[in-house]
Amino acid sequence: LGKIRTAEDAPGLAVYDPGFVNTASCRSSVTFIDGDKGILEYRGYPIEQLAEKSSYLEVAYLLIHGELPTKDQYDTWAHEITYHTFVHENVRNFMEGFRYDAHPMGMLLASVGALSTFYPESRNISDADNRHMQIVRLIAKMPTLGAWAFRHAQGKPYVYPDNDLGYAANFLAMLFKMSEPKFSADERLVRALEVLFILHADHEQNASTNAVRSVGSTQVDPYSAVTAGIGALYGPLHGGANEAVLRMLRRIGSVEKVPEFIEGVKNGKERLMGFGHRVYKNHDPRATIIKKACDDVFEVTGVNPLLKIAVELEKIALEDEYFVKRRLYPNVDFYSGLIYEALQFPPEMFTVLFAIPRTSGWLAQWLELVQDPEQKIARPKQIYTGHRTRDFVPAAERW
Ligand code: ACO
Repeated sequence: LGKIRTAEDAPGLAVYDPGFVNTASCRSSVTFIDGDKGILEYRGYPIEQLAEKSSYLEVAYLLIHGELPTKDQYDTWAHEITYHTFVHENVRNFMEGFRYDAHPMGMLLASVGALSTFYPESRNISDADNRHMQIVRLIAKMPTLGAWAFRHAQGKPYVYPDNDLGYAANFLAMLFKMSEPKFSADERLVRALEVLFILHADHEQNASTNAVRSVGSTQVDPYSAVTAGIGALYGPLHGGANEAVLRMLRRIGSVEKVPEFIEGVKNGKERLMGFGHRVYKNHDPRATIIKKACDDVFEVTGVNPLLKIAVELEKIALEDEYFVKRRLYPNVDFYSGLIYEALQFPPEMFTVLFAIPRTSGWLAQWLELVQDPEQKIARPKQIYTGHRTRDFVPAAERW
């Protein structure tokens, strides 16, 4: 609804766009998506090439710095990240104070917020070295906090980082060492996790990135801005779809029941979870890559019995006119939950596994925001629908 200002008290021209469906909130050179063609690129590099040939830390460097690193730049970056994976013992004490059944995403959110108090210099965001240090700390410490939140829920001792391991291997070791050693040391799992991390690293102005940018526009420290992103990701409409896919597959129960379920979807009784996307009206390129990663993971963990149902659902849906006409294809969440479940993660951990890699994307976008001279504090307009001026009647006269 727009109104040209026709009188002194008229609101003037305003765009009413709840959910920013058609409003660009920023200019960005980090990630490109063409939803009609199924293209996703970080800094111009196709996601397929990065997932096949790069590592998560190299992709994180690319997102943050805009270019691929030279050997020296990469070595310095990897060394810096590795040597900042430890967190202050008081953060550990803080985490231990949570209830035994605390949601790991709630623990992660609170712990990242708490980090800002450990690094008060992080509030000085105009200093480039200082910004760099906080970016390194955040990317380095997220797996430690995520793994500890996981072990807390299981009542298991926290495992400290191992500086001899790479990023994904270290995370697996902190999660599974002493409980599932076969998961912590397998190279196929390390690579599969790297791929999942690369796929989840950034996705332009999604809800959590928008939250990071919105809060970051107040010039707060990056820990607080990233905490806002974690909060957004905690919501079921953003990070929770893969869990809904698992629930759906379990409910269907067997391959034979798939046609009946599809009929229910077509009759509007329910949605096929993990299908469709606001942006991708063609294949979600991440879904194709994740499907391949499934095979590698299942080689180690054994096949998730729900996989057969998922494959059958995809096969039928891709040939069915209802889905073809509406351009509904599997999205990244269709297969990721199957992998996480095979690794024995409880569903509450799924969003934590999303937040850890998305941190590099959030920070790349945050860095772009704080360096953009045109960026203003995020402060949308509203279309006011309430009362106009009326006289206040004190409680004693109203009751
Ligand atoms: N199953 C069945 N029908 C669907 C589905 C689905 N998963 N998704 C969309 N449709 C249908 C709608 O009913 C509608 O049909 P109509 O034209 O006859 O009314 C048409 O397709 C358009 O759907 P919209 O809801 O308008 O599409 P929108 O772009 O707003 O929604 C969304 C995208 C929310 C992702 C939707 O496809 C959905 O709910 N999918 C299932 C949940 C899911 O997988 N979410 C994860 C998204 S990825 C992520 O967030 C990381």
